[in-house]
Amino acid sequence: MSSRSSTRLLMFLVLAGFLGLVVMQCVRPPLENPPVTADLQAPPEVKRILRNSCYGCHSNETKLPWFDQVAPAYWLVTHDVKEARRHLNFSEIGKLPAAQQKAALYEAVNFVQLGEMPLHSYTLVHPDAKVSPEDLAVLKNYLHPPAPAPAPDDAVKTAADTQYDKWIHASSAALTVQPALNGITYFPDYKNWKVIATTDRFDNNTLRVISGNDVAIRAIAEHHINPWPDGTVFAKIAWAKQVEANGDVRSGAFIQVEFMIKDSQKYAATKGWGYARWRGMDLKPYGKDANFANECVSCHSPVRGNDYVYTFPLAGQLGGSR
Ligand code: HEC
Ligand code: HEC
Repeated sequence: MSSRSSTRLLMFLVLAGFLGLVVMQCVRPPLENPPVTADLQAPPEVKRILRNSCYGCHSNETKLPWFDQVAPAYWLVTHDVKEARRHLNFSEIGKLPAAQQKAALYEAVNFVQLGEMPLHSYTLVHPDAKVSPEDLAVLKNYLHPPAPAPAPDDAVKTAADTQYDKWIHASSAALTVQPALNGITYFPDYKNWKVIATTDRFDNNTLRVISGNDVAIRAIAEHHINPWPDGTVFAKIAWAKQVEANGDVRSGAFIQVEFMIKDSQKYAATKGWGYARWRGMDLKPYGKDANFANECVSCHSPVRGNDYVYTFPLAGQLGGSR
């Protein structure tokens, strides 16, 4: 074959291949995103991981990047998504009782641990969907045997009421609270701060309130919340969940209070926030040594884009629209 005809043959093959690809694009089994009817109920740090690594296939919120839109990749991905949804769909699992949702998560985490999920074919082209060892630890931590819901108990209720009374009336001066192990001192005044949000965790039966000092509340009013200004302090207070005989849920025994204090210079080592936690009615500083704060920083890191703060003030709390 002359060099000229072999060049022609090559050009023909390239063109045919190209046309083939173009024709392939016309064969597109549709991939729809049905409505999200009952999203999985889980704390934000757990959902972040699943959203990042699993929702691409196991949810009704599939977003295909451009390189998955091109056949034949498109065919493989749509097939996987349909199969994946049939087995496990995080957008619909929320309709199951909490215990069943958790059971499904147990299974899912096992698949991750065994290296079966997410599919390798997927992480090959979506490397950031890999579940890191830290993420796996967060998932496993969440799945510690679920706490059974507390049964109504009058004695517990009376004790909690007495405790609450003491808590709300305790004069700050009467309390001698040891500083946290990183030197941060207690904020007795936090009981008077404004509430920013409340959360309720069914998995460990706690109720939590998140409040902020004046600087935080002013920052919210002025839409100055990312980054939060120096001087901002958040408190997160947790109580055991208490079930009344009529099924009402209220706060029971005090569990802990913890704080985040913004000072970008002073707390540069912990990404601009000082962390402190005191546990129990005797307000015992948390942790073994000053390194306890590493645990806080690492679990708050997923929301670094939000200045390490999980809570977002409700739209109504922000002055004007956003
Ligand atoms: C590329 C798409 C894809 C991604 C991403 C993906 N999966 Fe899957 N998954 C599938 C497919 C397809 C199946 C069903 C066929 C199979 O078992 O290979 C499946 C099956 C499963 C099953 C078995 C369910 C059953 O009842 O048999 C579990 C559990 C699971 N996936 C968990 C996960 C978790 C957890 C993640 C995220 C860490 C994840 N998957 C990410 C595609 C995916
Ligand atoms: C397992 C993950 C995890 C760890 C560890 C953790 N936090 Fe948080 N933290 C959260 C989540 C999630 C929220 C959002 C509120 C909620 O759902 O309870 C939060 C909220 C807070 C808030 C309210 C402001 C905000 O970000 O929303 C403070 C204050 C806080 N945490 C302090 C601490 C301190 C102090 C430590 C370490 C002693 C710590 N946290 C460790 C997950 C964690």
